[in-house]
Amino acid sequence: MIDGGTARVSGSEHEGARKAAEEPAYLHGFGNEHSSQAVPGALPEGRNSPQRAPLGLYAEQLSGTAFTEPRAHNRRSWLYRIRPSAAHPAFTRVGNGGLRTAPFAETVPDPNRLRWNPLPQPPAGTDFLAGLWTLGGNGDATQRTGVAVHLYHATASMDRVFGNADGELLIVPEQGGLLLRTEFGLLRAEPGEVALIPRGVRFRVELTDTARDGGRGPAARGYVCENYGAPFRLPDLGPIGANGLANPRDFRAPVAAFEDVEGPVEVVSKYCGNLWRAEYDHSPLDVVAWHGNLVPYVYDLRRFNVIGSISYDHPDPSIFTVLTSPSDTPGLAGVDFVVFAPRWLVGEDTFRPPYFHRNVMSEYMGLIEGAYDAKAEGFVPGGGSLHNMMSAHGPDRETFDRASAAELRPQKVDDGLAFMFETRWPITLTEQAAAADHLQQGYDDVWRGLERHFRPLR
Ligand code: FE2
Repeated sequence: MIDGGTARVSGSEHEGARKAAEEPAYLHGFGNEHSSQAVPGALPEGRNSPQRAPLGLYAEQLSGTAFTEPRAHNRRSWLYRIRPSAAHPAFTRVGNGGLRTAPFAETVPDPNRLRWNPLPQPPAGTDFLAGLWTLGGNGDATQRTGVAVHLYHATASMDRVFGNADGELLIVPEQGGLLLRTEFGLLRAEPGEVALIPRGVRFRVELTDTARDGGRGPAARGYVCENYGAPFRLPDLGPIGANGLANPRDFRAPVAAFEDVEGPVEVVSKYCGNLWRAEYDHSPLDVVAWHGNLVPYVYDLRRFNVIGSISYDHPDPSIFTVLTSPSDTPGLAGVDFVVFAPRWLVGEDTFRPPYFHRNVMSEYMGLIEGAYDAKAEGFVPGGGSLHNMMSAHGPDRETFDRASAAELRPQKVDDGLAFMFETRWPITLTEQAAAADHLQQGYDDVWRGLERHFRPLR
């Protein structure tokens, strides 16, 4: 257990304390039974729900899985808070902005290869929630299946608090650091790291960097995979052994930190696809202590232990899986989060970039920095591509020509950090994604000019 959270924020100290508390401390490990208290003595000993919880706190359980799911996959935490979550007025509907939720039926599934430039800059004062823009998705949030792919571009820190009842949010910053103030404590997520907010957990996103490109004021942008299905877990390793890929010890959960704020706080909840708001008379980020294995966390993608071929051929990209959300069918993920991290390529007599393929799964790819080794140009940081189920894709012509003629010395691929949300069902676009000005025209042309080289033996 770690005593002493990083922030005790109260009343008029609110703003100043926010700034003073920007270096979170962390608990380490994936799926661990963590415990943390921001005030000594806040955690009850030996039981979860004593007759009177310590320090006059309320005890409350937050479930991430059904009570009866297998122990290895069961996720829940006990929260000890100033007021129970139940202490709130009625929620009322507000507009959904650019957010959309499955089922997706605004357009028909598109067999074309599609690629987008980054989201345009939003107006000043756009917070993370207002800056969310849904590209598409699949499944049905009310059935807890499928995913949504969102992008965000924010120009202001949130004052309000957000929680998503529809699924967990895997946030992938591409520009600008984020300070996530959650019910469990503080997390920092920088480009190159990912953060996960479990279903229902309340949080606020604050921006910690100013805009690039000469812009003034704070700015942040990136990607979000909203996973309606089973919580992400680490993939099994099989013959790889007991270590490798994303190592559990590199996942960081917050230590307890709380806000003791009396006064109006706007809380927004996404519930079965719609946004609802309520004005609380206190901050819901008032958890003084907690224990359990359902936690928000961050992970630095540069810690990923990349495993690949040391003889010949290119492993299937499942070898790069960081996190997986399994479905009811063994081996078939609702969604995998996959990273293409810096690595050595040493295969002999091998076409080293990703091979041409048609995949039964559907692939949304994004780029955090640099370039991707299968696309010479046009796939830019902050942009993305969609290769839906069975759409034929692979390296562009320039990459194919270069890789086919390259001298096969050991080669370090270290000029980019790309990722993929790979999901079991086709991703259906929102209308805004299908009609976006930043949807590239002519993406098919990258495979134009792949010449006939066939020479039958005579
Ligand atoms: Fe692919």
